[in-house]
Amino acid sequence: MPLVTSKQILQAALANHFAVGAFNANNMEQIQGIVEAAQEERSPVILQVSQGAIRYAGLEFAAAMVRTAASLVDVPVVLHLDHGYDFEQNVQCLRAGFTSLMFDGSKKSFDDNVAMTRKITEIAHIAGIPVEAELGRVAQSTDRLTPEQVRALMTDPHEAKRFIELTGADSLAIACGSVHAMQSQAAELDIDLIKAIHEQIPNTPLVLHGSSGVKTDSFMAAIDHGISKINVATYLNQAFTRGLRETLARYPDEVDPRKFLTQSREYVKEAVREKIRLFRSANTIDASGGFKSPSKQYRSADIGAAE
Ligand code: G3H
Ligand code: ZN
Repeated sequence: MPLVTSKQILQAALANHFAVGAFNANNMEQIQGIVEAAQEERSPVILQVSQGAIRYAGLEFAAAMVRTAASLVDVPVVLHLDHGYDFEQNVQCLRAGFTSLMFDGSKKSFDDNVAMTRKITEIAHIAGIPVEAELGRVAQSTDRLTPEQVRALMTDPHEAKRFIELTGADSLAIACGSVHAMQSQAAELDIDLIKAIHEQIPNTPLVLHGSSGVKTDSFMAAIDHGISKINVATYLNQAFTRGLRETLARYPDEVDPRKFLTQSREYVKEAVREKIRLFRSANTIDASGGFKSPSKQYRSADIGAAE
């Protein structure tokens, strides 16, 4: 089906206590693995194009691959810009047909972040496209921050309320304990902080970045308290590369790259399936591509008690 905007699916996720996986799309095999898993699991899905993907594949090429992948399935697919860094790039993505934008002003002062986010939101909304913003900062694992330094970058709930009022951003990436590009699941989320932010901005879907390093146990409570979009990149790269390593070792004389990439695509698909189930977005889409009855969704406290 044609691409949909993130506004439609994130508001449904927020209302029904699940989160939509936002998976980074770098090449054809990853995109196919992601979309095939979403189709089989009857889940909406966000494919996001990162700065690295733009450098690697090119913005137009990445966008065209996602659009084609979406046209072949009957679950909602969003084409999202991940960590957009300036006004020009956001406008280029609008022009290229993205159905969701992000401006990451997390390294700017509060006022500068507000000013640029508002400028992008104003133009995007004229075109009917929603914008994700970031307040607080989700660091990179290569920054090698101490736990105290990670805490110092976390989002302030009262600032979050003011930020949303001033910018009109449609969703908000928050810093709540995760760090980008961790290769093991060791990070604990600050659930009380997520709860406090959600209380301040209950109608704004919250976005979790750096999920690859988050302890599996943390996701349920985070989703219960407003996390509605969860970004996953490193975990999929690990799956893809494991497929390559295994097949290269198993078939040392093989020269056809499709032999190796087929296994990578399969591992990405299974990793996405696992995340979709964990985020509770499986089986939320009916046969016509719309959302099923909200009564099908439960908070984690209800799981086990219901049905
Ligand atoms: O924006 C992308 C993500 O936040 C992905 O983070 O590589 O730690 O999963 P990750
Ligand atoms: Zn991120």
